[in-house]
Amino acid sequence: MDKTSSGFVFSVPYEIAVVRPLRQTSPAERDSALRDAHFNVELIPQDLVYIDLCTDSGISSSSTRQLAATAAPSELEPGMGLAGEGSRAFAALADEVRRVFGFSYVVATPQGRAAERIWTKIHVKPNTFVVGNLLFPSTRVHIEMNGAKVIEAADEAAYDLTSDEPFKGNLDVQKLQRAIEEKGAGHVSCIYVELSDNACGGHPISLANLRAIKEIAAAHHLPLFLDACRILENSYLVQQREAGYQERTILEIVRETCDLADGATLSALKDFLVSSGGLILSRSKESYQKASMQAFLDGAQLPGLAMMQLAISLREIFAADNYVKSRVEQVRYLWQRLKDRIPVVSPPSGHAVFLDVKAFLPDLNSAEFRSEALGAFLYRYAGIRVTKGPPPAPTQAARGMELLRLAIPARKYLDAHLDDVAEALCYAYSRRNEITGLRRSEDPARSKYEPGYFQPL
Ligand code: F0G
Repeated sequence: MDKTSSGFVFSVPYEIAVVRPLRQTSPAERDSALRDAHFNVELIPQDLVYIDLCTDSGISSSSTRQLAATAAPSELEPGMGLAGEGSRAFAALADEVRRVFGFSYVVATPQGRAAERIWTKIHVKPNTFVVGNLLFPSTRVHIEMNGAKVIEAADEAAYDLTSDEPFKGNLDVQKLQRAIEEKGAGHVSCIYVELSDNACGGHPISLANLRAIKEIAAAHHLPLFLDACRILENSYLVQQREAGYQERTILEIVRETCDLADGATLSALKDFLVSSGGLILSRSKESYQKASMQAFLDGAQLPGLAMMQLAISLREIFAADNYVKSRVEQVRYLWQRLKDRIPVVSPPSGHAVFLDVKAFLPDLNSAEFRSEALGAFLYRYAGIRVTKGPPPAPTQAARGMELLRLAIPARKYLDAHLDDVAEALCYAYSRRNEITGLRRSEDPARSKYEPGYFQPL
């Protein structure tokens, strides 16, 4: 609960309308599930998992209005089909997107990665460079698929796991400037910035930093693009931490962030509370036309029903600031419970708590699959699933960083679930000397892209 000058503020801006019962598994059942899954918790059947923290993507709970849209698609037309520009679903989504993000043009795709594939195909030229912070692997891969290289110009604070620096997602503007001068602006396709940078711990980027980046971009006639997937959390943390933003609404901060960018891609599956949906946001009619045609050719258009659900979600999220507040504060709640007891990345961020695995299990090395071993231990003890999540950025891998992400799906778990997570993690830490490493089992029938099979050492 919280009291402010505007009166009493409700902590949780929703009530639970539909639930899915969870079965209490026994230690013997979990033990055998782990063996059947070859000690890879990714392969454990969902029904045998108590709390699933492997991602926050596409699994948040729907609102009653979103569910009503699923139940009565005929009301919305065109139901399950694709929604052309003249459809109600597209109009509803485009209206909300323009109101919230302020971009004139929008292309809706099924996922964020489809938006990135299309956008980078249009804007990233072969044999050029893209300068960014620690971009999400899908963004980096799509940039590289166009024959360009990513230069990671993250602030040094991004690699510091313990300091309280409030904006570790920032770009180092000197590194950025140097990269442009060294390569020549003509050889840089664009600057790409991920808000609430997942790789380094979900840390936000400040608007002061974004403004400085924009100035450099404008001076060199380079476009500035955002991966705005986690723009809500970034905006909330700006409101909390950046001088001058305390009295601003989340919507105002979102708009100010977008106003600095020439375009954006985003996955709506995380904070925007839908199970499908990605957006390309543009100010250029020409880029929009190309992106729209490419989405058509790639079969990467978002069905009308999913558009409608995203439009409803945007309307509900921005009706008040307390949705994003309750989401980020829940993440902070778990971080707070852990921070003095086990090695977690500081300060807290908006969507996940990250463990420093090297500090958690100092006696194991990465060849002993210590993250997977810790995941297996947590599952066996408490039925909690934690996985490594997306791979680290190249400059993190080069520094030997290894983080385990406890991704908290929005609007899914209660604080009591997170109490259980904290208890299990503290237990694992108290027994860390008993956690043994794993080795990968060779199985020529499995490709290297399939989840690995392991055996205890
Ligand atoms: N950008 C960021 C910052 C992401 O976190 C993700 C996905 C994407 C882009 C790609 O979006 O999945 O809709 O294609 N993140 C998920 C995760 C997979 O677990 O963090 P997508």
